Amino acid sequence: MCGIVGYLGKKDALPLVVDGLKYLEYRGYDSAGVAVHTGSKIEIVKAVGKIQDLERKLKNPPKGRCAIGHTRWATHGRPSLENCHPHQSSSAKIALVHNGIIENYNVLRTQLQEEGVVFQSETDTEVLAQLIGKYYVDDLAEAVLQALREVEGTFAIAVMAQDKPSEIVAAKRAAPLCIGVGRDENFIGSDALAFIKHTNKVVYLKDNEAAVLTAKSVLVRNLRGKKVNPKTQTLSLDPASIEKGEYPHYMLKEIYEQPHAVQDTLDGRISPQNDEVIFRELEKHREYLSNINKVFIVACGTSWHAGLVAEYLLERYARLSVEVDYAAEFRYRYPVLDKKTLVLTISQSGETADTIAAIGEAQSLGAKVLSIVNVPSSTIARNSNMVIYTYAGREIGVASTKAFTTQLVVLSLLTVYLGLLRHTLPADQATVMLHDLKCVPIEISKIFTEVDNIKRIAKAFYRHSNALYLGRGVGFPIALEGALKLKEISYIHAEGYSAAEMKHGPIALIDENMPTVVLAFKGRRYEKILGNIMEVKARKGKLIAVASASNDDITRVANEVIRIPDATEGISAILAVVPLQILAYYIAVEKGCPVDQPRNLAKSVTVE
Ligand code: G6P
Repeated sequence: MCGIVGYLGKKDALPLVVDGLKYLEYRGYDSAGVAVHTGSKIEIVKAVGKIQDLERKLKNPPKGRCAIGHTRWATHGRPSLENCHPHQSSSAKIALVHNGIIENYNVLRTQLQEEGVVFQSETDTEVLAQLIGKYYVDDLAEAVLQALREVEGTFAIAVMAQDKPSEIVAAKRAAPLCIGVGRDENFIGSDALAFIKHTNKVVYLKDNEAAVLTAKSVLVRNLRGKKVNPKTQTLSLDPASIEKGEYPHYMLKEIYEQPHAVQDTLDGRISPQNDEVIFRELEKHREYLSNINKVFIVACGTSWHAGLVAEYLLERYARLSVEVDYAAEFRYRYPVLDKKTLVLTISQSGETADTIAAIGEAQSLGAKVLSIVNVPSSTIARNSNMVIYTYAGREIGVASTKAFTTQLVVLSLLTVYLGLLRHTLPADQATVMLHDLKCVPIEISKIFTEVDNIKRIAKAFYRHSNALYLGRGVGFPIALEGALKLKEISYIHAEGYSAAEMKHGPIALIDENMPTVVLAFKGRRYEKILGNIMEVKARKGKLIAVASASNDDITRVANEVIRIPDATEGISAILAVVPLQILAYYIAVEKGCPVDQPRNLAKSVTVE
């Protein structure tokens, strides 16, 4: 949440910073601002709204070789010009951008007010700018460190001083921040996406570290002032992969990338004979994994839905007792864990604040943490005992699509891996499951032949203001995910339910104005689902069924049918989410919604 960018070098800094902000807009987009050091002073331009709104205000842009920028997701204070970053100290000597929450800001604000400071905004961030301003004499890094020692909470910051035209100080605690190391130029970003076009050499700052940047140097210290030797990594992220290309939205691009993303995630992980899952990353933990007796799955949002699917798979095939929890609940609920509990976290970004905190909590209680993560070098990847990467590639659309399907693929592989390790899954059954998993990329591609049908359905239904999504078994979490996609990007109220549970409440809502999307794929609950469909139909409900190709009887009962290829229940869950993503996408397009940047949402939730 909130994106930070910085540049120092020989080039005109502002265009580079604004361009970087565009790549970070997924982190927040209710206002944006930049501070440019012109050589003699700091000039600040801010705008409420998106980066485009900021660009409109930059007709006569300030010129300079040192600049910082920010795209905001409001926490303290509404989106307004006053609350927009960069914030300044009263003397205007200091300009600062911040991601995170200063938790003791009220105490600090009162102290500063008693000392005569007059605040211009409602934000927690301005407190930090004022505090640094108070301590600043001529050593910016020292003033930043001094201020940060008084601060409680989370922060990633970039700071400039009026009389230091060629220096930026950056620091972080529990919010992501990295430095792009170039030749005679250096960059700062909440995410390497901000500068990957210019350099792939990256230093990830650790918590409680601060860096002093000039065009030619990056000096890192911890908050006590002790020098630290930073580790520079070379990222393999292809800059072209973060462009939208021919697609109108990242979400659509990412939906269509799914066959490829799943293939990348599968590559090298299934033996040629389909008799073994190859997780080299788990090799040295085999003994531990064969002795676990419980799995606690912890995640947020769409990743939590992937966890719910895994609950069915792991219980059925690996015979493990599984509990699934939201990270924010898990971390505060006094969970019962021990050395035989595996905590499995799932995260696309690897930066979700609650999931990071849940990992710390689990480890402090003696459990080991295995994380399924999409972004390499993320905090979750670094903090976990074991990591399995999904290879979805960068996901930029706020609504998660390809990250989810690749998570489901990894979780299916993990199920087979643990089932074989624990001797709960017969070898011949494992072989069939692995063979089926290898077919997922091609089976997803077949679903794209349904796009015109789905577009037509979207046109027919986009005016509704409510929808119900029903499924059973692994179809239940897919129903939750389908409803979430619709809510997120089209602002239509949608509820996902276990189809059986419908009779305990939601059925009261059903009439001709409440469309129901039902997951009716093959499996041992299919007949029961048909029964639920009849119950909806009897109450004049309109039905959109996502059904397996050979389920002929469905056409008699559903108003609309979207086909997915015939497959086992587990594979059908992976396939069935794709048409739900496409349906949500075209409904949002029909409604004219900003698909990639839905209001109030951020891709990476870095505050609790
Ligand atoms: C936000 C995003 C979701 C995502 C969730 C968890 O809410 O908008 O798409 O599923 O965070 O994020 P993570 O990166 O931990 O999977």
